[in-house]
Formats: sequence, structure tokens, C-alpha cells
Amino acid sequence: MLKINIESDNLVFRDIRKENLEKVLELYNQNELNIYATGIDLPMSLNDINEKYLEVLVNSHEFFTGVFLRDSAIYDLIGVIKGRIDYENNEEAWISSILIDSSYQKKGIGKRSIGSIMQLLNKSYDVRRIYIGIIAGNKVGKKFWQNLGFDYLRTIEQYIRLNNNTEDFIIMKKDI
Ligand SMILES: CC(C)(COP(=O)(O)OP(=O)(O)OC[C@H]1O[C@@H](n2cnc3c(N)ncnc32)[C@H](O)[C@@H]1OP(=O)(O)O)[C@@H](O)C(=O)NCCC(=O)NCCS
Repeated sequence: MLKINIESDNLVFRDIRKENLEKVLELYNQNELNIYATGIDLPMSLNDINEKYLEVLVNSHEFFTGVFLRDSAIYDLIGVIKGRIDYENNEEAWISSILIDSSYQKKGIGKRSIGSIMQLLNKSYDVRRIYIGIIAGNKVGKKFWQNLGFDYLRTIEQYIRLNNNTEDFIIMKKDI
């Protein structure tokens, strides 16, 4: 796993560990909009999460980062960010999903999280360009990435089937 370890005021970003997986599962299954982070329109099982975790664990380009809210000695997992540095071009990275606990949304935490991760990717790994992919029906997600300065790059048509609809996939990018 690509190591991420950042402290930014009350937010701490660090690698998901095995003991966090039950909480990660809770977050993924928390509400229907989270299918936009998982790309799967069914509740996930602990087995599914375990498989994802093991795939990342053995891969030095991929990160699976927890967003922890720190209150004195307590670290509460309130979000997850997944992505990878490109295998062929190390100056490029993909953030494949971000999910923030619905009771902590719209407080700027997603924005701070992506800002911190992009800064680390740039400073520690010399990444200069970030790509994200988003399911076209995800209106909130689109606003989120636009607000962070991501620009539309291209659309992959009929990319994924969710809730009996075939959805396009939009690629956006930002130079950092
Ligand atoms: C997308 C998501 C990560 C945003 O996290 P968040 O912590 O709530 O976002 P922030 O509070 O940092 O918002 C940053 C900007 O995004 C936009 N935004 C966020 N939530 C929004 C909403 N519900 N409606 C409209 N715009 C929204 C706004 O432009 C906002 O800036 P502003 O507050 O200055 O207007 C969160 O809604 C989420 O987990 N959604 C489900 C999974 C998902 O869709 N992930 C993205 C695709 S992988």
C-alpha cells in the first residue's frame, strides 16, 4: 500500500488497517448515494471489503486512506479515500473514490481531505496531475470536484450499470 500519513488540525489521514474494515463497511453501506463511491448498487459485505483491502495491501501504487476526526485521544473514522499513482506515469495519480460520513458532510471535510492528499502526492511522490472519474448521475459529486478546480476531460459512454440504468462515466483532471 502507498503510505499516507498526514495530520491537519483535527483531521488525520492514515492507511486503513484491518481493524478499521467493519467501520469502512458501515460507511459504504450508510446510504444510497454511496453507490457512487463503491460503483456497486448492492450493499457490500465484510468479505467484499476484505478483498478490496487485500488487493491494496499488496500493491505499492495504491492507497486506501481513512479520514479520522481527532478529539483528544479518540480517532473516529469518518471517511475513506481510495486511489493510485499511475503504473506507467508516476507524475499522474487517480483518486478513484471519496466518501464522507453523511453526518459530517457539507462541513468542508471532503474538500480539506482532497486538498491534503493532493499536497502529499505532490510533495512526497512528485505527482503533478490528478484524475478522477465520476458517474454522470452523481450531481453532488460533480459539484464537489468542480469546486476543487477539476476540469472536464472526457466521457466514457455507457460505462456502468447502476439501479437498472446504464450510466456514463466522466473523467476530470487537475494539474497540481
Ligand atoms: C462528495 C462528498 C465526498 C463531498 O464531501 P463533503 O465533505 O460533504 O464536501 P465539502 O463540504 O468539502 O464540500 C466542498 C464543495 O463541494 C460541493 N458540495 C458538497 N456537497 C454538496 C451538496 N450536497 N450539494 C451541492 N454541492 C455540494 C460544494 O461546492 C462545496 O463547496 P461549498 O460548501 O463552498 O459550496 C460527499 O457528499 C460524499 O461522500 N458523497 C457520497 C459519495 C460520493 O459521491 N463520492 C464522490 C464520487 S467518488
